[in-house]
Amino acid sequence: MKVVNSVAEMRAVRRGLTGAVGFVPTMGYLHEGHLALVRRARSENETVVVSIFVNPTQFGAGEDFEAYPRDPERDLTLLDREKVGVAFTPPAEEMYPAHFGTWVDVQQITERLEGASRPHHFRGVATVVAKLFNIVEPTRVYFGQKDAQQLIVIKRMVSDLNMNLEIVAVPTVREPDGLAMSSRNTYLSPRERQAALVLWQALGLASQLWSEGERDAHKIRQKIAALIGSEPLAQIDYISVADAESLEELAEISRLALVSLAVRIGKTRLIDNIVLPSSEAL
Ligand code: PAJ
Repeated sequence: MKVVNSVAEMRAVRRGLTGAVGFVPTMGYLHEGHLALVRRARSENETVVVSIFVNPTQFGAGEDFEAYPRDPERDLTLLDREKVGVAFTPPAEEMYPAHFGTWVDVQQITERLEGASRPHHFRGVATVVAKLFNIVEPTRVYFGQKDAQQLIVIKRMVSDLNMNLEIVAVPTVREPDGLAMSSRNTYLSPRERQAALVLWQALGLASQLWSEGERDAHKIRQKIAALIGSEPLAQIDYISVADAESLEELAEISRLALVSLAVRIGKTRLIDNIVLPSSEAL
């Protein structure tokens, strides 16, 4: 595996690659969720490129940019084991030089859910992802359904800006008890780790209600809220049952719906989601 630390070298390496290039953008501190994306990319492309870059512009003031967990050496060992061709770890000064002033601002769908709680988050995500696409020039790119809104925003950007690549969505990888894997899970104390299960229980309840024929989105939101409310360490940021494409809140579930949650467990903010019907994918 080549470890590439500059944009110029990444471009030079890219020029030498023939065949399909699969690209997995990450912020590092890799877990099995990231590795599922890498393995999928490995199975569909000649070469896999993985970027590790904790992108400062997608963190708001007072968010966890400084505290975000980092372990580059372990990450590189894991990627090498997965037969990744190139690990791209650009320095922040190269990604955001002085006088940087161009932003990719996807409208509407970024104003809801995560966007409502985290202003400018998706502007940072879309901008860094567009930059990485321009540098790596991938054939296919891999995103996790764990961050469903991010996936939807990137799809919109790629379509709106005619970017010449294919987006592949990979299902959420979970711990054996159902907690969605996340680099932020490391913030949880043992008691909080237990409490965090309430997200998966809430999504399970939504799925069960749907299977029993419930189509009233308001009732589903209410019952989920009651379940999460019964966990003393959990504080609801949002509960959404929305159209899976427009992210508009639904009154009645009559088409593909995204049920998504953001819940604070102590100081840690966790997100998770499912689609209904669960046999479908985003
Ligand atoms: P990061 O949180 O490191 O996630 C990188 C990719 O891994 C994303 O596509 C995310 O959806 C996916 N992922 C994370 N946890 C997952 C899980 N449990 N199962 C499946 N996939 C999972 O998302 C980002 O970084 C950044 O916003 C980024 C796109 C790199 C831009 O900075």
